[in-house]
Parts: sequence; C-alpha cells; structure tokens
Amino acid sequence: MAETTETTAPEVTLDEIVALCKRRGFIFPSSEIYGGIGSTYDYGHYGVLLRNNVKNEWWRAMIGERDDIVALDSAILQHPRVWEASGHLEGFTDPMVDCRTCGLRFRADKLEDAQCGRKPSKHPGEFSECDLTEAREFNLMFETHVGPVKDTGSITYLRPETAQGIFVNFKNVLQFARKKPPFGIAQIGKSFRNEITTGNFVFRTREFEQMEMEYFVPPDEAPKWHEYWMDERMRWYTELGIRPDKVTLRAHGAEELSHYSTATSDIEYLFPMGWSELEGIANRGDFDLTQHARMSGEKLEYFDQDKGEAYIPYVIEPAAGVDRAMLAFMVDAYDTEEVEGRKRTLLRLHPRLAPVKAAVLPLVSKDGMPERAREIYADVRAHVPAEYDAGGSIGKRYRRQDEIGTPWGITVDGETMEDGTVTLRDRDSLEQERVPAEGLGERLAAKLAKPWRTPKLG
Ligand code: GAP
Repeated sequence: MAETTETTAPEVTLDEIVALCKRRGFIFPSSEIYGGIGSTYDYGHYGVLLRNNVKNEWWRAMIGERDDIVALDSAILQHPRVWEASGHLEGFTDPMVDCRTCGLRFRADKLEDAQCGRKPSKHPGEFSECDLTEAREFNLMFETHVGPVKDTGSITYLRPETAQGIFVNFKNVLQFARKKPPFGIAQIGKSFRNEITTGNFVFRTREFEQMEMEYFVPPDEAPKWHEYWMDERMRWYTELGIRPDKVTLRAHGAEELSHYSTATSDIEYLFPMGWSELEGIANRGDFDLTQHARMSGEKLEYFDQDKGEAYIPYVIEPAAGVDRAMLAFMVDAYDTEEVEGRKRTLLRLHPRLAPVKAAVLPLVSKDGMPERAREIYADVRAHVPAEYDAGGSIGKRYRRQDEIGTPWGITVDGETMEDGTVTLRDRDSLEQERVPAEGLGERLAAKLAKPWRTPKLG
C-alpha cells in the first residue's frame, strides 16, 4: 500500500462506510454470532447486487464491447506444480517478525503501520519489553490437502491469483478461440492469501475476488499495450463515476516489482485511509508461459503463419479486486447534505452500479394505491431492477432508498388514481416531476443506457 499523502480530512471515514453497510445490509462480519473471524466478510442482499453490477460492468468492458477477449472460469484448486512453475511457492512471501513477549506476528516491512499487543498500544519494537525475532519469509498461500490422506504428496494450495488458471489454459483457449495476438483471456473468481496484515474493512482480506485479464501480445508491442491498458482501466473507473482527481497511476519502483513483472503501474484511489492500490497493471513479459512450458513439457507459444515462426507472447495484465472496486465506488458515491433542516445520507452511485434502479412507493396503504403501485412495479421491473417499498412513512422510505443509492423513486398517490401520473423523484437533484405511469419502465431503461456524470463534479 502506498503511503498516505493526503493531509486534509477524508470526505467520509471508513467507519461511516462500515456503518452504512451494516445498517442497510450490504456487508456483515463473517460468522458474527461466533464473534467473527478476522477480516472475513459476508455480503448481504444489496452488497451482492452491487458486487454483481461491478462484475457485470467489467465483463461488459472486457467482452461485451470488444471482440479480442474471451472468458474463462478456471478451478480454485490446481495442480501443485502450477505454483512451483509460477514462482509462488518460492517467491510469494512477505517478511514477518514475531514478538516473543506479546506473541503477535507483524510484517517486518510495515512495522510503522502495526500496533503491538500492549496497552496503550504502540508500534512493535517501541516498548523496552518488545522482543522481536529476526525477519523470516512467510508464504502467503493457503495450504490444503486433496483427498483423505494428509501427507506431503496431497498438499496443494488455494489459488492466490486467478491469473495462473489462464496461463495453464493458454493452449486450450488458443485452439478453440481461433485468436491471434493481441488477444486476451479474462476471468473473475475468488483468490486467497494468508495476509499477515489485513484490515481497512474489505480493502485487504484473506478471501477476496479478482477480475483479471491476461492480454497476449507480440513481444515488441508489449510497452504499447501496457500504456493502452492503463488508459482503458482508468477510463473504466471514471466513466463509472469515480472522480478523476481521486484516482492516479503510480509506477512501481524496481524494488517493489513482483517476481514475474518487468513493469507494473498501480491505479490508486484516495481511500479514507489515504492513496492505496485499486488495481495493478503489469507487463509480465513471457515469464509465466515460459515457466509453465518448461515445467509441463507442453509448447505454450503462438505460431505466426505470416512470418512462419513460433514465439511466446508477452502478457499485459490488468488485475483488479472486486471488493476493493466496490469499496472505492461506495466511498466516492457517499454524500451527506442538509435538506429542510434534516441530514440526508446518500450513495450517488452510477445508475448502472446502483443495486436497485427504481423503487415504487405507494403513498398510503389504502384507496387502491398499493394495488395500482403493484401494477406499475410489475411494468418497471420488467425493464430495470426495481423494488416495491411500502414499509414506513414516505420520508423514511426515501431515506432508505437514498442510502442504498436508488436513482429513481416512483410515488403512487391520489393523483395517480385520477390521471395515471406518478411522481418521479431524482436521487441526486431531489427534483420531482409528474410523469405518466404508462411506459415508465421503458423510459427508465432508456435513461439507464445514457452516459452519466457524477453530480459531485458540479
Ligand atoms: N495477478 C496479479 C495480482 O494478483 P495483485 O496486485 O497482487 O496482482 C491484484 O492483485 C488486485 O487484487 C489488487 O490490485 C487488489 O485490487 C486485489 N487484491 C489483492 N490482494 C487483496 C486482498 N488481500 N484483499 C482484497 N483485494 C486484494
């Protein structure tokens, strides 16, 4: 994680995001009734919908809007030699130290970010009683056993990145997809890392989901495609509502590069705890295909018919975290304002990311309004994801919908019963207009398809 350079107070604290997630059922601590298990989270209804929308937008950018990328869904469990070839067994480590006094374990290179076990807590090593061991390399992969016998022959690992599933399928995909470089293979899936330092809510957890795409290119074109994917990925975040001054690209220094990378730039977002990595875009060269070819004995190369020669493509990899992206979208969308003397909290999410696009609200539960509202709801939800919300006062329902980021509220009232119009309320401007209920679903679908700009940009 990069150092915090922001000195002004964040617009929203992580605690406020955590509270909203709990209050509105986006995210819960996992196994909460047993006291929780550190840095592991469960996603509730709106969290699932928001995450799915983030993933759908990624698929749209990778597959829906282009012809040069195909999809893959590889297994979490892979042959242990995959991790030998990829270098993860040897090199996917963090240096750690143990404190013989308090018994806690810390990242040796992040002691200034850690708190020791004493009260009042200080950084490890700052008390005279602290007794730190020498730094030792600690492998971050989760080890497990395949089959009933727990011996060294049955050891394998939960994948620490989805990328290797793509490299080991290179030949399969090349055969059926009939692509030639430049072309990509994309997948979304869970990854696992036994992180020593977790925290900042879902920013760094041990179980998380990645959206990774390996783009195979002729070696001499790698720098050009690296630049291209940095631009594309920055565009993805900003078109989905992240303000341009809250994201930046930062190139890794030589000492920071992963074992497979010749050049990496991180897209960083200004999270409440400071500028931190959102996505990494690496030039992996031919490291992975070469390694797997050597270990498996298979040829993992592309035969260029025009030149009459085979070569191992280089790989450009945009690798993003679903959970981190979701957190960034929520942080960027979070807002509060005072309306008629009352505080309003809302998520100004891009409508395509919003878990629910429209809420249909009968003003009162009588005079035929719920029945009419149900009819309108049936039309609207046939076109956009919608919710029927009849519980509590209208003000309370608007507040609930604002906090989950619903862009459009449709109120069914006495006038609806007379002239067939409803009130359409805009989440961001709070403007209310009378519109015909007839054909509303179709009109909202058209609104949803339009480009959107966050009102935070003025
Ligand atoms: N295949 C390359 C790779 O895995 P990475 O920078 O280690 O690169 C890519 O991970 C992205 O995955 C990160 O930018 C981040 O968004 C997400 N990620 C990595 N570790 C994570 C963790 N412990 N918790 C949540 N997200 C994580």
